[in-house]
Amino acid sequence: MEFVPSEEALLNEELKRIRADIDAVFDALLPVPMDSRKRLVEAMRYAAIGGGKRVRPLLLAATADLFGVDRDMAVRAGCAVEAIHAYSLIHDDLPCMDDDDLRHGKPTVHKAFDEATAVLAGDSLHALAFEILSAPEMSSDPFTRAELVATLAMASGMNGMAGGQVMDMAAEEKDYDLHAITRMQQLKTGALLAASVEMGAILGRLPAEGRGGLRGYARDIGLAFQIADDLLDYEGDEAKAGKALRKDDEQGKQTFVTLMGADQAREQARALVDQAVGHLAQHGEDARLLAALARFIVERDR
Ligand code: IPE
Ligand code: IPE
Ligand code: MG
Ligand code: MG
Ligand code: MG
Repeated sequence: MEFVPSEEALLNEELKRIRADIDAVFDALLPVPMDSRKRLVEAMRYAAIGGGKRVRPLLLAATADLFGVDRDMAVRAGCAVEAIHAYSLIHDDLPCMDDDDLRHGKPTVHKAFDEATAVLAGDSLHALAFEILSAPEMSSDPFTRAELVATLAMASGMNGMAGGQVMDMAAEEKDYDLHAITRMQQLKTGALLAASVEMGAILGRLPAEGRGGLRGYARDIGLAFQIADDLLDYEGDEAKAGKALRKDDEQGKQTFVTLMGADQAREQARALVDQAVGHLAQHGEDARLLAALARFIVERDR
């Protein structure tokens, strides 16, 4: 009989593999120039290599794998999403935003370097993402490349992450209800997670009509992901998280936890994960990794 690893063993193995793959691609893409851009590229490497969980690239690779996409292509596209994510964290930590000193267990980019370098490293990672996706090595099909670019662009700008960040800042003053918080989250965090799944389907040449189940899955885990982040902020362990916690309360931010209380928020996140896994039914056993990732997203401690 063939040995089938447990869902947890499979997930840990795949998290480890994608971390190594993404680090290797960033390392190759970011050689340090021997001129006055040295500090900029060092800051980009500092933010992009090592550190994160790489949930977005793994979502993309696991989705692409459902359709037999070449692993190297999925990793390249995953690197593009992670470049946007890394840039969003550099800017999110700046004094004009969340003003944080610690990320991934080390000083934030503006602390380790300086504010101007942090802004420009974020800008350059933002541009790098689209450089990766539009390069001929990404896909021999220009339509696929254009669809990847459009999907990630939409998820990053005013109708995605950046729009959500602005709503998040306004959440310090305004009275957001559950509906408004959900909308904010869908943009701030949900959009990039959903784009990761969508880009896996694009690489797999799955027509848009066939993406309903995967989109349902992505929407549910996106919401669950932010509830987990809010719960971690409220009750997590700073040493494990590698970032300052108890910030949302300190900044008077409304989150899922302030609106629902921790217990109900946790219940809601778990219900969303069950619902997300339900959306994968048509993919059967092939979707084990996506199911495991959904559970990891709410049970994680960092
Ligand atoms: C943290 O994202 C910021 C949010 C969008 C909530 P992650 O928890 O995916 O960050 P890293 O990259 O793994 O540290
Ligand atoms: C950040 O949300 C979301 C981004 C788009 C970067 P948070 O501000 O809650 O993320 P953390 O808690 O600093 O990682
Ligand atoms: Mg923030
Ligand atoms: Mg923050
Ligand atoms: Mg947070």
